[in-house]
Amino acid sequence: MKILALETSCDETAAAVLEIKKTENESVFFSVLADITQSQISLHREWGGVVPSLAKREHAKNIIPAIGEALELSGAQFRRADLNTKNEERVRAMFSHLPELGETLLSFVKEKGKPDIDAITVTVGPGLEPALWVGINTAEALGLLWNIPVAGANHMEGHILSILLSKNGQGTYSKKSIAFPALALLVSGGHTELILMEDWLSYKVIGQTKDDAAGEAFDKVARILGLPYPGGPEIAKLAAQTTQTSTIMLPRPMLHSKDFNFSFSGLKTAVLYGVKKEKEMTEEKKQEYAREFQEAVIEVLVKKTISAAEAHGVQSIILGGGVSANTLLRETLEKEVAEKLPGVKTYLPERKYSTDNAVMIGIAGYFALEQKKNTPLVAQGNLSF
Ligand code: KG4
Ligand code: ZN
Repeated sequence: MKILALETSCDETAAAVLEIKKTENESVFFSVLADITQSQISLHREWGGVVPSLAKREHAKNIIPAIGEALELSGAQFRRADLNTKNEERVRAMFSHLPELGETLLSFVKEKGKPDIDAITVTVGPGLEPALWVGINTAEALGLLWNIPVAGANHMEGHILSILLSKNGQGTYSKKSIAFPALALLVSGGHTELILMEDWLSYKVIGQTKDDAAGEAFDKVARILGLPYPGGPEIAKLAAQTTQTSTIMLPRPMLHSKDFNFSFSGLKTAVLYGVKKEKEMTEEKKQEYAREFQEAVIEVLVKKTISAAEAHGVQSIILGGGVSANTLLRETLEKEVAEKLPGVKTYLPERKYSTDNAVMIGIAGYFALEQKKNTPLVAQGNLSF
């Protein structure tokens, strides 16, 4: 089957087309036919972070072009779509909050017709609700006009399932492709969670941040150091420029707490106070702060993941979410797991699938369809597992 997947939960407008085939022994083969991500970073940069109303406006502007491009790139075949007045009216009603997008979508379907797509999947949460609605309404309207099913997908589940994909956009899911139980460390702009998985598609949150997410801490500390949004890659770049032993000492919050929860807001405040006390913020000082901050976050993430993995006797560790693009985190996690938990395998997403994309929503949505999960097509900003 072919799936069109849409992702608009934050600041990327993304559309992908996946071909999915069931093979022997309940295995599933995924192949990415098109993967379009239209980033809004340069727009939000001016404001130092994502502005939900601007994100919504940009998604509304970019989503139909992104879908058109993804379908074309995938080599989709179109035939005539049977539009009728009743359906057109329903689409207009769906888009009463974004009438322009409603009209663009109707013109697109009138001009292009119906592609050989079997289902649409779309992120329903977690994320920014005004942004999520753009994707959800678009998916619902196209599903209606093309007369195909629409499935809601959980963005964080998408991040976990990203490990199934190789660099060339192909991947195989099978019952035995990883050993269970598994532990997933999810680190993104909005989330920092440890998820215990007894099997594929079975999730139990065993730890999470009490305040800021790891990515959010990177973004906030970047701002303190005068770096642009998003802060993660900027901090990593700056940190890599110094090899000096740091004189700056930052806390490792909750490193020794008995639970598997995290807290990063105190660490950010420690950077803020430290920077305020400096007589002069030289480039070298900035580099040292970036390095010490990055090391503090990674030390806590990795050590707590290893304690949780030991406590639950897991056989696999999965890393996911935008912060998983961080080289030091990837290397430290792999190295520490190999040293401290011999026999446990670490699964990292390919870098191109680490940050937000629609491909992962295609995969998560495919399983939602298979499980007949009927997630309501309603934006759920705080959707959890
Ligand atoms: O998953 P994602 O793309 O979007 C959300 O779902 O939030 O994650 C975005 C977060 C941002 O906070 C960004 O600063 C962080 O991931 N990030 C990184 C790196 N690349 C992106 N953090 C640290 N190092 C990186 N290389
Ligand atoms: Zn994400």
